[in-house]
Amino acid sequence: MSTTTNAVLRKGEIESNYDLHAFLCGLEADSSLCQPEQLRERLIALDGLDAGFGGFDSEDSTRCTNSRIHKRAKALRTQLEAANAELYQSMRFDIVRDDRPRVLLHWLQNSPGQNDLQIPLRGLGFDYRDELLSGVLQLREPTEPNLQLSPEMVFYQPTPVRHILYLIAATALAADDVFVDLGSGLGHVPLLVSMVTGAQSLGIEVQAAYVASARECAQSLDLSRVRFIPQDARKADLSRGTVFYLYSPFNGSILTDVLSALRMESTRRSIKICSLGPCTRTVANETWLKARALPDIGRITVFYSQ
Ligand SMILES: C[S@@+](CC[C@H](N)C(=O)[O-])C[C@H]1O[C@@H](n2cnc3c(N)ncnc32)[C@H](O)[C@@H]1O
Repeated sequence: MSTTTNAVLRKGEIESNYDLHAFLCGLEADSSLCQPEQLRERLIALDGLDAGFGGFDSEDSTRCTNSRIHKRAKALRTQLEAANAELYQSMRFDIVRDDRPRVLLHWLQNSPGQNDLQIPLRGLGFDYRDELLSGVLQLREPTEPNLQLSPEMVFYQPTPVRHILYLIAATALAADDVFVDLGSGLGHVPLLVSMVTGAQSLGIEVQAAYVASARECAQSLDLSRVRFIPQDARKADLSRGTVFYLYSPFNGSILTDVLSALRMESTRRSIKICSLGPCTRTVANETWLKARALPDIGRITVFYSQ
């Protein structure tokens, strides 16, 4: 069993070179840390090293004045990162081999102390599953988005993985669904939906550079059920969607226009709309929609057309 958790010191707790040395020795003595299944412990250890020793990339920002200890810490960090990279690479192979990758699912769905079929923690904080998904997807972050967003359009911010898993469970997304993320950013929501469920998924994103990254990722993982379209959500063809997702991508008149297009769709078939963030307040005012639970801007709310 790993002893890492006991050895972890948070920012502010490590004050002297003596403490740093003791902390480092604890990690170095834990021979299990580089085993693939110790991912969570490794991520905690990496956080602890960064918090304790400061920046490893710029030599001046280190908090450790003993260069030998600092060098050992840096070497351990490289070793732990290499173990993570190896695990992520094996998961990428698994995804290419099998379009319902079991290893990734196992890691995402077995979180200690939290059952994602129940209500996830509120808010936009991230946990090890976000680190894991980002390591697996390896989405290329464009240096500069090419479009100046209008004041009603919201800049990119990713949905934490625990909320996506909740969305998947709460809407019971299945093979006959078409999931549409309106304002999909770098695309990790449709990408994860397509890997975890049998549903088709679609990302609509106004920033063409983000769409290019999302498409590259889908192609590198050979994902056939996910598509991305560089488009303003107001112009999107919504006719195939059954479950729509809005993580507060826009507000004001854009949100009003998109909600009225969704309302038109609901006259042809039942749809579900999932929302996160402040846009939930506006969605909750739509009389043609009903939420099963009390709307909450800190978690995903699922609305049903009636
Ligand atoms: C808060 S981010 C959400 C990203 C993604 N849905 C997620 O949950 O991880 C909002 C995204 O909406 C995009 N966006 C803003 N206005 C848009 C519009 N009119 N049409 C399509 N995308 C838009 C932004 O570029 C940004 O990537």
